[in-house]
Amino acid sequence: MAQLTLPQNSKVGKGKHFPVAGAGRTRRFKIYRYDPDSGENPRTDTYDLDLDQCGPMVLDALIKIKNEVDATLTFRRSCREGICGSCAMNVDGTNTLACIKPIDEVKGEVRIYPLPHMPVVKDLVPDMADFYAQYASIEPWMKTDTAPPSSAERLQAPEDREKLDGLYECILCACCSTSCPSYWWNSDRYLGPATLLQAYRWLADSRDEATGERLDELEDPFRLYRCHTIMNCTRTCPKHLNPAKAIAEIKKMMVARR
Ligand code: SF4
Ligand code: SF4
Ligand code: FES
Repeated sequence: MAQLTLPQNSKVGKGKHFPVAGAGRTRRFKIYRYDPDSGENPRTDTYDLDLDQCGPMVLDALIKIKNEVDATLTFRRSCREGICGSCAMNVDGTNTLACIKPIDEVKGEVRIYPLPHMPVVKDLVPDMADFYAQYASIEPWMKTDTAPPSSAERLQAPEDREKLDGLYECILCACCSTSCPSYWWNSDRYLGPATLLQAYRWLADSRDEATGERLDELEDPFRLYRCHTIMNCTRTCPKHLNPAKAIAEIKKMMVARR
C-alpha cells in the first residue's frame, strides 16, 4: 500500500508551553503556529488559561492569549458577532467562526488550526486570494438589460424575495469550501460551495436578467460538477445555510434548460 507523508518542511513540531499560575478552572489550548519568514517548520504551542478570567468564546481565548500571554499569535477577527467571517478557523476538527464557538462546547483541550487546505500566511491566517478571485468570477452583482422603472427602484414580490432567504445571509467565511474534499483536490478549477451558493443567489433573484449567461459560465465539468454531494459544506456552515442544496438547485436549472 502506498504510504503518504507530509513533506519534511510541513511536519508540525512540538512548540512552547505557556502554563498559567494558580488557576481555578484551567483549560488547555493547542494552537497551530507558522511563520514563513522564520524558515522553521510549523509547530503547535500550548497555552493554559483560567476560564474564570476569560470570555466564553474561542475568540475570547485567542484575544486573551494575544493580549496577556504571547503577542506574536496571529489571527483575523473583526466583528466578534458572527457577521464578518474573518475569524473562520478549524476548532476541535471542525471549521467554524471562533467568535461564536463557545469554549464549553469543546471537551478537553481546544485544538485550533487554520482553515484546511489553504496556504497559510501566518499562524491562523489563511491566504484567501484565490477564494475571493473565484467569488469575483461569478460576477456577484445584479445584471440587467432592461431600464429600471423611471420613478421607482426595481421591485420584487414578497414570494420572490423569500427565494433569497438562506442565500443572502452567507458571509463568505469559507468554512464550507475548505471542508469540501472536492475543493481540497480541485480548488484551482472547482468553484466550491461558498462561491456556488453565491452564484445561485443571483440565479434565484427575480430581478436579475443574466440567468442564461450565468448558467453558461457554470456549465463546465469542474466549475460546478465537481460537487459529489458529500454534504460536508452544509454540516459545517456556522450560519446554518445549505450550500449543497444551492448547488443542487443550479444543477436542476441546468437540466431544465436543456
Ligand atoms: S455558506 Fe456558510 S460556511 Fe459557506 S461561506 Fe457562506 S456562511 Fe460561510
Ligand atoms: S456537497 Fe458538494 S460542495 Fe458540499 S462538501 Fe460535498 S462535494 Fe463539496
Ligand atoms: S470576528 Fe467576525 S465572524 Fe468572527
